[in-house]
Amino acid sequence: MSDVIRAVRCHRYAGLDDRGRPIPTPVPLRDVLSLDEIPRPRNEPGQVLVRAHYAGVQYPDALQAQGLYQHKPDLPYVPGMDVSGTVIEADADHLRAGDRVIAQMSIGGLAEVVRAPAASVWRVPAGVDLAACANLGRNFFPAYHSLKILGGVTAGSLVLVDGASGGVGMAAVELAKAMGAQVIAGVSTPEKREPPAAGGADRVLCYGADRDGYRRFKNEVREASAELGHPAGVDVVLDMVQGDLFEAALLSVIRPRGRICLVGFTAGQKPIRPGLVLIKQAVVMGSIWAGWAAEHPDGHQRNVAEILGFLANGAVRPRVDRLIPFEGFIEAFELFERNRGRGNTVVCVHEG
Ligand SMILES: NC(=O)c1ccc[n+]([C@@H]2O[C@H](COP(=O)([O-])OP(=O)(O)OC[C@H]3O[C@@H](n4cnc5c(N)ncnc54)[C@H](OP(=O)(O)O)[C@@H]3O)[C@@H](O)[C@H]2O)c1
Repeated sequence: MSDVIRAVRCHRYAGLDDRGRPIPTPVPLRDVLSLDEIPRPRNEPGQVLVRAHYAGVQYPDALQAQGLYQHKPDLPYVPGMDVSGTVIEADADHLRAGDRVIAQMSIGGLAEVVRAPAASVWRVPAGVDLAACANLGRNFFPAYHSLKILGGVTAGSLVLVDGASGGVGMAAVELAKAMGAQVIAGVSTPEKREPPAAGGADRVLCYGADRDGYRRFKNEVREASAELGHPAGVDVVLDMVQGDLFEAALLSVIRPRGRICLVGFTAGQKPIRPGLVLIKQAVVMGSIWAGWAAEHPDGHQRNVAEILGFLANGAVRPRVDRLIPFEGFIEAFELFERNRGRGNTVVCVHEG
C-alpha cells in the first residue's frame, strides 16, 4: 500500500488578501486549488478510514476555498465534506472493512483516502448506487430535519417545496412523499418541472422570476391545495428561495398556524411585513440541521437511519446530476463559483 495518496488541496483563499481581508474580485478558484500527492492518513481511535469512490461538491466548498465560509481551515487544506466509498479500517462496532458507506466530515473529502468520525459514517443499503449517495448528507439531512423535526410533517400533510429542482429541494420532495405527505413542488421555469415530477410531486407549479409570476403561483398553489383536500392552505413550506417570493406567495398559501421552514435564500433576502405573519399566526423557523444534530445526537442518528431505510426500500432514489472525473475536479468548483451549480454534483475519485 502506497504511503501517498492523491488529494485536492486549497493553497490560499481566493477571496482574501494576505492579511485575511476580503478582496472585491476573488482570484479564480483554479489558481488556488490543485490535485496533489499527500501522506496517506492513518486511522485514529473513534475514527474510520474510507477509500473514497465519490465526493460531493457543493456551494459551501467553493465558498470555503474563497475564504468566505464560516469555517476557515489552516492552509493548505483538503476540501470536501461528503463522500461515499468503502471502509478500509474502522475503530467502530457498527462497521467493518469492506462496508459500503457514506461519510461526513468538516474538511478532507476530496482525497483517495479519508478519515471521518465513526458517528458520521453510515452503511449504505445493498443495491443503492454509491455515486448517488455522495451528497446525501448535504441534501437529505437538511430536507429531513426540516420536514420531520421542524415541520412536523406526517402522512396526509400538504407540503410546498420551492427550489424543488435543486439538491435539497429534490430530497425534500422525495422524502415528503416517502413520509406519506402530499407535495406541491415550485420551480422557476417549465424546463425544471421534470425532476420533482419524477420524484413523485403531486403538482409541479412555476413561480417564474417576477411579481406577476409569483402572484400566478400563489393562485395556482391555492387551487391545487383545495384540489388536494386542503382548502385552508399548505401545512408546511420548505423555502430554499426567499427573495420576493416569500411575501408575495409563501405567506399567502400557508394555512393558519402553518409552518414555514427557511432552509436557504438563493434569491436573496427581502424585507417583509411582519403583520402578515401575525395575521396567518404562521410559525417561521430557521433550519440548521447540523446545529440540531450536535444537540440531539441520538435523534440525528435516528433520522439518518430512517433516511437510509427509505433508500433501502426504494421510497427515495437520489440521482446524480453531474459526474466529474477526479482529474477534472476544478469543473465542479467552477460551476458553483459561477453560480451554475445545481443539484447533486459528484466527483468520481475511484469508480465503485
Ligand atoms: N439550512 C441548511 O442546513 C442548508 C443545508 C443545505 C443547503 N442550504 C441552502 O439551501 C438552498 C438550496 O440548496 P441546494 O443545494 O438545493 O441548491 P441548488 O441545488 O443550487 O438549488 C437551488 C434552487 O434554488 C432555486 N433558485 C432560485 N433563485 C436562484 C438563484 N438566484 N440562484 C440559484 N438558485 C436559485 C433554483 O431553482 P429555481 O431556478 O427553479 O428557482 C435551484 O434549483 C441554498 O441556499 C443552500 O445554501 C441550507
